[in-house]
Amino acid sequence: MKSNQNAQNLLKQQVGQAGAEYMLEKVPAGAVLGIGTGSTVNYLIEALAKYPQHIQRYRGAVSTSDATTARLQACGIPIIDINEVEDLPLYMDGADEINAQGQMIKGGGGALTQEKIVAMVADVFICLADASKRVQQLGRFPLPIEVIPIAQRAITQKLKALGGMPTVRHTPQGAIYTTCHTNWIIDVAGLDIHDPIALETEINNWPGVVTVGLFARRAADSCLLAGEQGVQWVHFPDQNMI
Ligand code: 5RP
Repeated sequence: MKSNQNAQNLLKQQVGQAGAEYMLEKVPAGAVLGIGTGSTVNYLIEALAKYPQHIQRYRGAVSTSDATTARLQACGIPIIDINEVEDLPLYMDGADEINAQGQMIKGGGGALTQEKIVAMVADVFICLADASKRVQQLGRFPLPIEVIPIAQRAITQKLKALGGMPTVRHTPQGAIYTTCHTNWIIDVAGLDIHDPIALETEINNWPGVVTVGLFARRAADSCLLAGEQGVQWVHFPDQNMI
């Protein structure tokens, strides 16, 4: 079990390094970087920090969480409010699952709302993933949905009617997990996500839903995927999977 985790962390580290090299090569000086959240992104930031002369050419970065903000600031990258950004050439982030169309489940780290906003603004969204994240059909990973707390019961009922098994996310200490917008997250296992765009659209339309962690209408443009063969580009649709 532990060695599986070590192997996965090594893949995350490799894809983080590849992502940083690509970002520094492609994003022009003076631009703003878009940086996501999670352990894969932590490796991306660690890799960016190895090139201080390169990173100081940028105006700064848009961050999707407090954790990412702290790490970016620790390596000297200024944080820019997304409302102050007119152009965001590239956003890099991890995913909990990604399919052959580049559609993803995200939000395992609880930052789905900020991530969706940054994905909407960015010209290009590159997903950084290890091979375990690649799936034929989304839905083995429970789908995170950020909700306004007073809507939790009603949304839970609707998710059960869709065949899902919803649970309100808790912290390891047993308290209800609250997002940085003071909302709750419902994690839904067992959904049959055969049409990700339709399901994203439907859940988005329910009153009280802030964000659904299906990134199907705005999928990734491409993916850097780390596996046994090293880090490879995947462009969508991925012909190896369909
Ligand atoms: C955070 C996310 C992450 O990208 C996702 O949970 C993957 O995380 P990790 O890189 O730790 O496996 O969506 O909200």
